[in-house]
Amino acid sequence: MAVRGGAIAAVVALVLTLALLCGTASAQGFLGINRKAKQPPKRSTPGNPKQLPPKGKYTTVVTNKYHKRDYEITCTTDYGASCYIKCPARCPNKCLAYCAYCLTFCLCDLMPGTSCGDPRFTGADGNTFYFHGKKDESFCLVTDDHLHINARFMGNHNAESGRDFTWVQSLGITFDRDDHRNHSLYIGARRAAEWDEEDDHVVLVLDGEPVDVEAAKNARWVSGTVPGLSVTRTHDVNAVTVELDGVFSVSANAVPITDEESRVHSYGKTEKDSLVHLDVGYTFHGLTKDVDGVLGQTYRPNYVNKLDITAKMPIMGGEERYRSSGLFATDCAVSRFHRAAGRSADGFTSFAS
Ligand SMILES: *[C@@H]1O[C@H](CO)[C@@H](O)[C@H](O)[C@H]1NC(C)=O
Repeated sequence: MAVRGGAIAAVVALVLTLALLCGTASAQGFLGINRKAKQPPKRSTPGNPKQLPPKGKYTTVVTNKYHKRDYEITCTTDYGASCYIKCPARCPNKCLAYCAYCLTFCLCDLMPGTSCGDPRFTGADGNTFYFHGKKDESFCLVTDDHLHINARFMGNHNAESGRDFTWVQSLGITFDRDDHRNHSLYIGARRAAEWDEEDDHVVLVLDGEPVDVEAAKNARWVSGTVPGLSVTRTHDVNAVTVELDGVFSVSANAVPITDEESRVHSYGKTEKDSLVHLDVGYTFHGLTKDVDGVLGQTYRPNYVNKLDITAKMPIMGGEERYRSSGLFATDCAVSRFHRAAGRSADGFTSFAS
């Protein structure tokens, strides 16, 4: 990537397929250039995800090594003040900025069907909860007649607080299509002692064969063996969207734990591991009404949230129900993979999710 004068635009607008709101705002960040603002510049503050600004125009802000955490974003606001964006501590590297209100939000807080960070899930019903799982073990996130997704958790034990922190290290996706073969797709985050944002940390393997996608934004790989399966890079490195036509679209971002996050949350990050993990957004098509799993159950048409959603951040317990014996095992207690009672000849009953 060419760096012109050390001051190139620091703001990248992402296409957000999962976005609730349509946001077409584009903005430019400038470093070292003082815009003459009619009003004194403001500093952004984190917004409340439950109270989104009514004017749903946002910009995705991504930090990079040339531009640290503060940006001046030039917005087309009614009153013309510039807004210095600083992403919230929970998502210091990437956030949504609602310029008009000078508010910021973490992507993972807003979209149904996500698992992010320490792992925080947002269910199909829009409610957010933690599921901590256990480090170095796998749990079923989504389990349905023809689709099963496990997540393997990684973690860090903080001796000072005595607490284990976990993140999603990889996804093991098992599915079958008309060929009645079980396919396995691995999406993982590669470990790195030190994070270098120009290195790719996403690893993809289909049925035991590595999937190589050219490291360029929009580069696309189409499977020669599984019809309808494709991978598209949404950035040059560290961000992919994996799609299986008519079944799912999974957007995975490999992200590190920054020193600042570690300090704020006392993660106890050491110099030897940047704790690279996956933040994931999921879209499903044609799940059955019996779908289960940590995230999957929230897609049931009759799903009733039993968590205490008035708690600051509810925790989903019941680890035993979701534990899998391996990343590609379909044996968690709530497994629905190939378990449909009275399966009809043509597969499954689908409903629009
Ligand atoms: C696919 O996996 C399911 C569940 O483990 C199993 O019952 C089924 O026999 C497998 N199908 C094939 C073709 O191996």
